[in-house]
Amino acid sequence: MTELPHMSPEEVSESLSQENRERKGALQQEAESLEPQVSDCPKFSAGLWVLAQTADRFCVSGYGPKVPLDEQIKIAGKLDGVDGVECHGSDFDDFEVQRYVDLVAEQGLVTTNVNTNVWGTAKYGLGAFTHRDPKIRSHAIDEGKRSCALARELGAPSMALWLGADGFDYPFQIDYPTHWDLLIDGIRQVAEEAAPDLKVGIEYKLKEPRTHVTVSTVGACLAILLELNLPHVGGTIDFGHALMAQESPAESVCLLQRYDKLFNVHFNDAWGYWDDDMIPGTVHFWTTLEFLYYCRKMDYQGWFGLDMFPYREDGGQAAQMAVDNVQAMWAKLAELDTAALEAAQETMGAIETQQVIRKLIF
Ligand SMILES: [Fe+2]
Repeated sequence: MTELPHMSPEEVSESLSQENRERKGALQQEAESLEPQVSDCPKFSAGLWVLAQTADRFCVSGYGPKVPLDEQIKIAGKLDGVDGVECHGSDFDDFEVQRYVDLVAEQGLVTTNVNTNVWGTAKYGLGAFTHRDPKIRSHAIDEGKRSCALARELGAPSMALWLGADGFDYPFQIDYPTHWDLLIDGIRQVAEEAAPDLKVGIEYKLKEPRTHVTVSTVGACLAILLELNLPHVGGTIDFGHALMAQESPAESVCLLQRYDKLFNVHFNDAWGYWDDDMIPGTVHFWTTLEFLYYCRKMDYQGWFGLDMFPYREDGGQAAQMAVDNVQAMWAKLAELDTAALEAAQETMGAIETQQVIRKLIF
């Protein structure tokens, strides 16, 4: 307490009030400095499928009730911290584009990305962009071009290709050189349609539905991007897909950003041997934190798109927890002594780096 010599009762009271005000101000400042600073966190977009009915091959009728598209958009609108949605071109097989546009606007959202469904129908069973039947291949490439047209109608900045049907299951099933020629040519055709105003994001995944998906890893994805050498064609990192491929998702960010090629992120978590599509931050805490650190360090400016399949959970609750987890972890990074970490990394020692990192929690 401040020493108060030779003061009148009024002066004492005023001095104490002043002291209290200062203390309160200091406490307020301290509290503010501890508040999550999430303003520079990438924005969140919810894949509408996260909020829909989920099914797998063991429960093909779905684990929960059907959620129509308009309801999915309304749920997305209620999510705190979510500013956008991702959709699929096939969402519009039975839904009017204008109605969708109105609903998204009513919820104060924007469409951030249009994904291309060239895997969900039987005709693509043996392949889409690489199908050896020119008619089926042409249907698939047209579907990619349709995503470009839809992205423009919806005001989305990008469209995406996850070519999950393009791959093989058995040895000797495909001729690899021809297959790769067809794949890259198909992507190039869609890229030409997207130019110059739309970005194209190529999403990689190791396997499923094929035992071997051709665009399998960040390296395979990057090989395609470098061969195409088109500034508006880049990659999408799906966190769980990177784990499946035994990658460090943070390193995958650095590899793509080395060439300014990280266009979109699909956020989720997984155990690492399957595409579990779980809530971010629930399994791989440190790996997720490292991923966020390098998104920040490598100046990733895109969206964090939630791509989850909450089979047995409520989609809205799972999506909200996803945003809350990632925002909290992003805020946690503000407490990291980056200079100390970089100095520790120069030693190349695990103990030295862990000693810096563990202070965030322990
Ligand atoms: Fe994804």
